[in-house]
Amino acid sequence: MIFRHAEAETSSVDIIREAKPSDARGIINCMQSVMDERVFLVGEYYMWTEKGEQDRIRNPDDLTVVCQNGDSIVGVLTLQRGYYRKNRHTAQLGIAVSAGHRHMGIGTKLISYATDWARSRGIRKINLEVFSTNQNAIAAYRKLGFKVEGVRKNQFIIEGAYVDDVLMSLEFPDQG
Ligand SMILES: CC(C)(COP(=O)(O)OP(=O)(O)OC[C@H]1O[C@@H](n2cnc3c(N)ncnc32)[C@H](O)[C@@H]1OP(=O)(O)O)[C@@H](O)C(=O)NCCC(=O)NCCS
Repeated sequence: MIFRHAEAETSSVDIIREAKPSDARGIINCMQSVMDERVFLVGEYYMWTEKGEQDRIRNPDDLTVVCQNGDSIVGVLTLQRGYYRKNRHTAQLGIAVSAGHRHMGIGTKLISYATDWARSRGIRKINLEVFSTNQNAIAAYRKLGFKVEGVRKNQFIIEGAYVDDVLMSLEFPDQG
């Protein structure tokens, strides 16, 4: 999927597509840059090596979608399907869009891609966790139909203050 927008800092063309093994370095750079901001993601360093990332991309049970802008990966979404019979109907979603590329529709397009993919594989429920301080992300998820399922109080300390872990999900009841 290709789309254009006027406000992007660099190229005005974004391409939303499934990741290829050759994207591994770009994905790591994108994820690390968002982790370096410290306030959106739990991780402080991206745990996957380039080889590990390539193996993950090749795993047919998982989905990695990227947003490519010029030569850079500026958005990454991962869906990890439950491994066991008890939870194979679920998938865990993670997403990060690079600074300078936010609020331009990329997150919405990545999540819509993932939702279609999940449905096509019979997945019934997508789960995610988000910091209570990340109101932009919570608004984005709500707009796409995610609902708050629960809150783990004081689960994190970010910049010296306690932050809740908000558990959200999107269900497809028609999936059986
Ligand atoms: C959260 C995130 C994935 C959303 O993706 P995005 O491309 O920025 O969002 P979109 O442009 O698709 O916007 C969707 C909605 O999100 C909300 N939103 C996103 N960015 C916003 C901003 N800067 N200010 C206000 N609302 C914002 C709005 O409700 C928006 O709908 P609108 O365009 O009708 O106002 C992205 O901002 C991001 O990666 N942020 C940093 C990392 C992060 O928070 N990851 C999620 C951790 S759980």
